[in-house]
Amino acid sequence: MNVSEADGKVLYDIIIKHKYKKALEIGTSTGHSGIWIAWALSKTGGKLITVEINEGRYKQALANFEEAGLSDYIDARLADAHELVPKLKGPFDFAFCDADKGWYKNYLIAVLPKLEVGGCYTAHNVSGRRRGRMWGIGEFVDYLESLPNMETTYDDSSWSGISISYKKSEKS
Ligand SMILES: C[S@@+](CC[C@H](N)C(=O)[O-])C[C@H]1O[C@@H](n2cnc3c(N)ncnc32)[C@H](O)[C@@H]1O
Repeated sequence: MNVSEADGKVLYDIIIKHKYKKALEIGTSTGHSGIWIAWALSKTGGKLITVEINEGRYKQALANFEEAGLSDYIDARLADAHELVPKLKGPFDFAFCDADKGWYKNYLIAVLPKLEVGGCYTAHNVSGRRRGRMWGIGEFVDYLESLPNMETTYDDSSWSGISISYKKSEKS
């Protein structure tokens, strides 16, 4: 369930390239992608808020962050992202969505007002977007592509696929 090395590197490179500092991850699991993101943030001087609903995975992620020496760059929350994400204050300049696919569109709607212009919203497991409408990914992608202020490309170098969307202006 964790991101591949190739996908982790995509996230890492985006953060380094744009010197992002205020990151949000939805769906920590055991912290694999969080480690890639926080590793980049350790170089830009940033911090990651990451949200996980499953206590066992959250605890394992905390241990993994500690072992990686990246705990200082991560604010890990044990919470239902449906409830927590809309309440987070922001602002964010980078977001990675990798939790329940049926809620992807709602997460985007909740995060977009808190994403700075020039910031980047990424989402995992979008490779099936053209083939089927499984998991709500199709609905998410349709909505994302309908937003005139978001410029979206896809990294399909791994089987999962990542959408990469830059916020061009406040107005949608
Ligand atoms: C695919 S895994 C994330 C993998 C992780 N990003 C990585 O690469 O290491 C999805 C995670 O989202 C979590 N999740 C699902 N629904 C959630 C919710 N409503 N709030 C918070 N986390 C949720 C699941 O428990 C699961 O651990």
